[in-house]
Amino acid sequence: MDLDDSVCIVTGASSGIGTATARLLASRGAKVVLAARRIDRLETLARELPGSMAFQTDVTIAAQVERLMDRARDAFGTIDVVVNNAGQGLHVPLEQLKADDFRAVFELNVVAPLAIMQAALPMLRSGHGGAIVNVSSVTSLRTFPGLGGYAATKSALNMISGIARLEWAESGITVSSVYPSVTASEFHDRLRAGHLVTGPWSKQPDPPELVATAILFAVQHGDEHVLVADPPRAIQLGAEVESILGTGRGSAGGSPAAIGVVPGNRS
Ligand SMILES: NC(=O)c1ccc[n+]([C@@H]2O[C@H](COP(=O)([O-])OP(=O)(O)OC[C@H]3O[C@@H](n4cnc5c(N)ncnc54)[C@H](OP(=O)(O)O)[C@@H]3O)[C@@H](O)[C@H]2O)c1
Repeated sequence: MDLDDSVCIVTGASSGIGTATARLLASRGAKVVLAARRIDRLETLARELPGSMAFQTDVTIAAQVERLMDRARDAFGTIDVVVNNAGQGLHVPLEQLKADDFRAVFELNVVAPLAIMQAALPMLRSGHGGAIVNVSSVTSLRTFPGLGGYAATKSALNMISGIARLEWAESGITVSSVYPSVTASEFHDRLRAGHLVTGPWSKQPDPPELVATAILFAVQHGDEHVLVADPPRAIQLGAEVESILGTGRGSAGGSPAAIGVVPGNRS
């Protein structure tokens, strides 16, 4: 997809991966619709990115998602790209997972991206083919202790992405999942519950700009599964994931090498 003059919605644009993605898309000529709750940050970013606009949006509130789409339509006439990036972690062992925390993170990581895809669909269909990128996580590709609640939300998002990809292919819309590993952002300071614990198995966090290049790759190539790497690359799930992430099952004898998380108490 040629991004020059395209209109791209990026949720969670007030921080980390979303901010880096908005900057990268804008550098390719896109007009970026910046969505998140912290409007001060979005407005500062919008001033930096010519042609972009900031809209305060809580993506878990249906009326605010509708308002976001209405404003994007009024401002730009259409939407070509949706990057569902807003999300939150929930890093506690299953024994400590509180149902209310799980419901809240499920609303943000699964229900909200679906609502945004549904709301954007008429505009995506009206153009010459659109792209949806859902930001998942490597935690949905393997079993890691302490991440059951969070990984379950991203796994659900993966399935919705894959089925949306099939259902909307005839409309010329690609739906991709991008799989970041640990990334240097505010993410681990803003977990719904739990914490990241570093140890000898940890890897250096990736810069959010690296994840942004994977998101751009997904927009441009439309691959179903895109791994965050330098350079980013399309992957097949299954055996290839085992060879990338290792065969450890994340147990005491396994090697949770890709993320560096161990069970922790609620913080
Ligand atoms: N960082 C990692 O290690 C990592 C690894 C794998 C996957 N991911 C995924 O990458 C995505 C981006 O995370 P990040 O690392 O950039 O984390 P981050 O710095 O914490 O950014 C999260 C973003 O989500 C937005 N957000 C949260 N709740 C929202 C709501 N109700 N409505 C609208 N926006 C909301 C936040 O904005 P406001 O607070 O201003 O609303 C913020 O812009 C997430 O989906 C995350 O699950 C991250």
